[in-house]
Amino acid sequence: KVTDAAQAKGWNLYLVGGGVRDVLLTDESDPLLLQDIDLVVDGFHRSADDRAGVELAAVIQQMYPDVSISIHGEFQTAALSWHKDPIFSNLLIDIATARTEFYPYPTANPQVEASSIRQDLYRRDFTINALAVRLTPPKRGEFSRKGDLLDFFGGLIDLEARQIRVLHPNSFIEDPTRIYRAVRFAVRLGFTIEPQTEEYIHYAIKSGVYQELRISDRASPALTTRLRAELKYILQANYWKPALKLLAKLNALSCLHQDLVFTKALAWQVTCVSRWMFYIDIPNVQPWLIRLEILIAHLSPFDRLEVAENLQLPKDSLQRLQQLEILETEVAPQLLNSQLPSQIHQLLQIYKPLTLILFAARGDKNIRHILWQYITKLSQVKPLLTGNDLKKLGFKPGKLYKEILDDVLAATLDGKIRDR
Ligand code: CTP
Repeated sequence: KVTDAAQAKGWNLYLVGGGVRDVLLTDESDPLLLQDIDLVVDGFHRSADDRAGVELAAVIQQMYPDVSISIHGEFQTAALSWHKDPIFSNLLIDIATARTEFYPYPTANPQVEASSIRQDLYRRDFTINALAVRLTPPKRGEFSRKGDLLDFFGGLIDLEARQIRVLHPNSFIEDPTRIYRAVRFAVRLGFTIEPQTEEYIHYAIKSGVYQELRISDRASPALTTRLRAELKYILQANYWKPALKLLAKLNALSCLHQDLVFTKALAWQVTCVSRWMFYIDIPNVQPWLIRLEILIAHLSPFDRLEVAENLQLPKDSLQRLQQLEILETEVAPQLLNSQLPSQIHQLLQIYKPLTLILFAARGDKNIRHILWQYITKLSQVKPLLTGNDLKKLGFKPGKLYKEILDDVLAATLDGKIRDR
């Protein structure tokens, strides 16, 4: 029905991008359920058709009233979703009008204009993502068949050769987040980055494409957002470790800071925070964010905050990184000198578990041992008396309350008094 609607308007409709790649990579005996479907409408250059994607989405909504549509203004893309439908609630269909992008300067947000499907595919990142399947039948005078695969740039050969290849030398200069995408696809699909493409990555990094990102007032907010999204994608995937190693090999972590070197010690710290997050039950934890924080924590305290702010990390992250400095410089020596559990409790009680996990991963064996004791045992100990008990005993509420309750808690922690 959707193709009929496109055809009635005289438009061509194509399935493009990752969906085509994934269908071609999937074993026929193992059916693939596409969740993100990217469609492109080719509007034949008529200016009246530059909203073809949005118009087609409106036609679909008339046919399926329970679909919700959101339009992404500048790029004239319509996103269709079926939130209310239990079977299709994960399905997302993006319909765009075939377009060409111009980068007014490297790393800028692209400017867009309607164009043909070939140009639309040429603006994409890698050959394996620049394949399309024509869904509408050809018009008179056109040779290709409905269901034809359009492969202008050798995507099929690269899928066979299992390699990631860009379409043109400027790809990474125009959009540095593609360096992260190259790594993500290489690791996720078990592909290699084609040697010439790897050269382009080295060239882009050497030419300082990431410096823009580090200077907050010059980096375009959209670029920072895309970079953060790619970092999130990689750091929350189960392949985060090989992906980080490959990013490090390409020197791509320098996008965060030129001093960020992925040493063995740092790799161990990321593993350590991941394990602690697995064992300690913390509500609403976002493992990718904590992994990113431990990477950033490798930098000097001043640089940590600058990088975190540039990446627009949430306030909680900034607070954890700030507190980490105090923990490492002031609290660590006192912890190592503490004789009693109550002293440890006193030193750590104001910090949240995630901050302590970062501290543990960066600390030595002794610090880690103390923190494990604190998080799993000491922080769970409750005082044997409450404010209500004191009231019943005839104490008047006031400063004394807190002193008594603190003393009772300390005595409980140190085993001087026990619950009967
Ligand atoms: N794309 C691009 N450059 C980018 C981001 C996206 O050229 N920086 C293009 C690619 O053609 C990609 C398509 O937009 O296939 C859709 O992007 P996205 O949904 O991020 O990627 P998928 O290929 O669908 O991958 P995934 O399976 O990870 O969603």
